[in-house]
Amino acid sequence: MTSQTVWTVKSEQDTIHLAELLAAWAMPGTILALDGDLGAGKTRFSQAFAKGIGVSGIVNSPTFTIIKEYNGERLPLYHMDVYRLSEQEADELGLDDYFYGDGVTIVEWASLIEALLPPERLQLYIEHMGGEARRISITGMGERYAGWCEQLKAMGAG
Ligand SMILES: Nc1ncnc2c1ncn2[C@@H]1O[C@H](COP(=O)(O)OP(=O)(O)O)[C@@H](O)[C@H]1O
Ligand SMILES: [Mg+2]
Repeated sequence: MTSQTVWTVKSEQDTIHLAELLAAWAMPGTILALDGDLGAGKTRFSQAFAKGIGVSGIVNSPTFTIIKEYNGERLPLYHMDVYRLSEQEADELGLDDYFYGDGVTIVEWASLIEALLPPERLQLYIEHMGGEARRISITGMGERYAGWCEQLKAMGAG
């Protein structure tokens, strides 16, 4: 089961709003797979999402550390950036411990390790549209995330 919607946001604040909305729906085992060019807003989205689940520290790009863990008030957050990893290296990290752990996982550049991702996930593909505008293509894979997508559609997205 798959559902898709497109959110066209006009400002950084709109991206933050979407992240906060999704953070409110997050639960243990939630997987968000982010893609989009450098500077699209994957990390900015992750920061707003982290704040939404009660992470108080500074969330920055985990490019050099690959995985960072945060203790959110509501849920733990596992924030990954797999840009520099081969699929084999990622496989050796045992990512399933995070994906199927107690927290929420956000993966930046997720499509690079697509074969390792849980089949049920929310995918967000962020594209530059000039200035602060972004097109965010959202795909909910599996019943839970397809349901999220339907809820987003009902809110009158894009
Ligand atoms: N609508 C928007 N959504 C997200 N970020 C935006 C938006 N408009 C401007 N920005 C800016 O774009 C940059 C995105 O950077 P970042 O989140 O690090 O990108 P990525 O992680 O995709 O490489 C930030 O400086 C952010 O302030
Ligand atoms: Mg980033």
